[in-house]
Amino acid sequence: MRRKIVAGNWKMNKNVIDAQQLMAELKDYKNNTTTNCEVWIAPPSIYLMMAKDLYENDEVGVFSQDMSEHESGAYTGEISAGMLESIEATGSIIGHSERRQYHGETDSHCNKKVKLALEHGLIPIYCNGETLEQRKSGQHLDVVKNQTEVALFTLSAEEIKKVVIAYEPVWAIGTGETATPEQAQEIHAHIRQLIAGKYGQEVADEVSILYGGSVKPDNAVEIFSQPDIDGGLIGGAALNKNDFAKIIEAFN
Ligand code: PGA
Repeated sequence: MRRKIVAGNWKMNKNVIDAQQLMAELKDYKNNTTTNCEVWIAPPSIYLMMAKDLYENDEVGVFSQDMSEHESGAYTGEISAGMLESIEATGSIIGHSERRQYHGETDSHCNKKVKLALEHGLIPIYCNGETLEQRKSGQHLDVVKNQTEVALFTLSAEEIKKVVIAYEPVWAIGTGETATPEQAQEIHAHIRQLIAGKYGQEVADEVSILYGGSVKPDNAVEIFSQPDIDGGLIGGAALNKNDFAKIIEAFN
């Protein structure tokens, strides 16, 4: 059975007081609620240790929003897989479209990062998805195919089972526009088929594929009920405990 996951990507939001408060609210929520999915957060990296200290029983998985493709060395501003491992982080988001757009990340960078994350026992949440122009010109299936193949298909079957994929159409991120459940399901099924073609159906059935892009309390149930959608990567709605909790409860 593949895992069901609701993961919050906080992006570059919240000062330390607000971050601490939301983390504490989520701890309290997790300790008093039975959830039918795993709950993960990716706060800004400056708050990762605080999160690890707070979630002493791993109630909430703790992810970085990015990590370096290098082991260590002269890479100012970066954090490494080894550092994440040393604080016992759960994993890292890799290849988010904002990293691609503003920092020139490509799928070959993602490939290195995914491998490095796995070597350090971290769960990579590998993000992909097409832009609006690519969708309008009917290239979305090919774009996602190419992204998935370049970033992931050098992995072994055992390795790819540990990867979580987040399909995030760029045109739906932070725009309030969501892919319809059918549009999302089409791509999720496509990604799963690609994995099945390369690694076999059994492996493909074990890989969790999340949807991201304007998931909100009022659309989560419909999106998560699609057969190939195993949860969500949530931006804006993860910044508020009540909204995030409602999305988690879409699995109830
Ligand atoms: P959004 O962001 O939910 O604010 O659209 C999703 C993401 O970027 O992961």
